[in-house]
Amino acid sequence: MKHLCSLLCLLLLALPMSGKERTIKPGQIWPDAAGNHINAHGGGVLFHKGYYYWYGEHKAEKTSSALVGVTCYRSKDLVNWTYCGVALQVEDQVGSDIEKGCTLERPKVIYCPRTGKFVMWFHLELKGHGYAAARAAVAVADKPTGPFLYLRSGRVNPYCWPADWSEADRACADTLQAAHFGQWWTEPWRKAVAQGLFVKRDFNGGQMARDMTLYVDDDGRAYHIFSSEENLTLQVAELSDDFTYHTGRYWRIAPGGQNEAPAIFKHEGRYWLITSGCTGWDPNEARLFTSKSLLGPWEQLPSPCVGPNAKLTFGGQSTFILPVQGKLGAFIFMADIWRPKHPIDARYIWLPITFKDNVPVVEWRDEWVPEEVFE
Ligand code: DGJ
Repeated sequence: MKHLCSLLCLLLLALPMSGKERTIKPGQIWPDAAGNHINAHGGGVLFHKGYYYWYGEHKAEKTSSALVGVTCYRSKDLVNWTYCGVALQVEDQVGSDIEKGCTLERPKVIYCPRTGKFVMWFHLELKGHGYAAARAAVAVADKPTGPFLYLRSGRVNPYCWPADWSEADRACADTLQAAHFGQWWTEPWRKAVAQGLFVKRDFNGGQMARDMTLYVDDDGRAYHIFSSEENLTLQVAELSDDFTYHTGRYWRIAPGGQNEAPAIFKHEGRYWLITSGCTGWDPNEARLFTSKSLLGPWEQLPSPCVGPNAKLTFGGQSTFILPVQGKLGAFIFMADIWRPKHPIDARYIWLPITFKDNVPVVEWRDEWVPEEVFE
């Protein structure tokens, strides 16, 4: 008995010393290996050579503006994360695109086998200009942890019509003048938006690009998926072979549907896209779309969320869908619970995706163990 007690005591002492957590607790503080709440918001995850790399926005105490840049964490088990530092740093130089105080959101990183580079895209708003710039920005690195070298930013695909538009579609859009639609949300305005009112308005300057994700398809082609056209319509834009340019080919998703926060995955030959509506930092009901082709057409289905507060995506907003390595059909839905008054305290919702009648379901769990769920 005495021996048993000593053994138990030893075990209890050893547990916290091992420092290994087994559970993910959505919505709660998520300490990294050093005990600090993980600071990688609006993020995405890349798997490379045995490690998951989690990239996200560093959030400050009092402002949502970028004072640091994009952070990177590394893990082997998806639960225990080690801080790897700032992968892309904002700059002190006044007038720099990524000047400290800019808005830098939703960074995602993909690996380009052709160049051996890690390519980061993110949504950039210039310092002091609110959300007017609506730019896509790109940076590259030789190592997954960076440092990432900032390349450029701008609107997307100037002088290009959507790739699937017919001559008639182009001619129709060409007649639309934003100035003729001073009043928004009317029926004629909605029709014009669907016909490409803002595609036409931004034809010369390039399409707006805000909330975003990246996706590398099975054939190695990479795509940038982003909220465009005044956040009314998502666009899927093909990237160049080195993943650092847009090729000029793009397609629209749900014209006029007001989707933000795109997160995508492919399962058994079908693409699934989870988005949110547009309510700023406040949560709203997730949306689910599916298509047999990344280029559409997309069909909308009811929200995949189930459980308490499912109508508000459990208080969160989608950011990424993480394919679990080596496990067919294993995906994690990643979302952010924003705290705009105390941004650094924003939380993460990570939940496993299950399938019911072949349709993805995201069911709330207070806590869960990836190695059990994905055994
Ligand atoms: C919702 C977006 O999804 C976020 O990334 C951020 O841009 C907020 N809007 C700002 O209100």
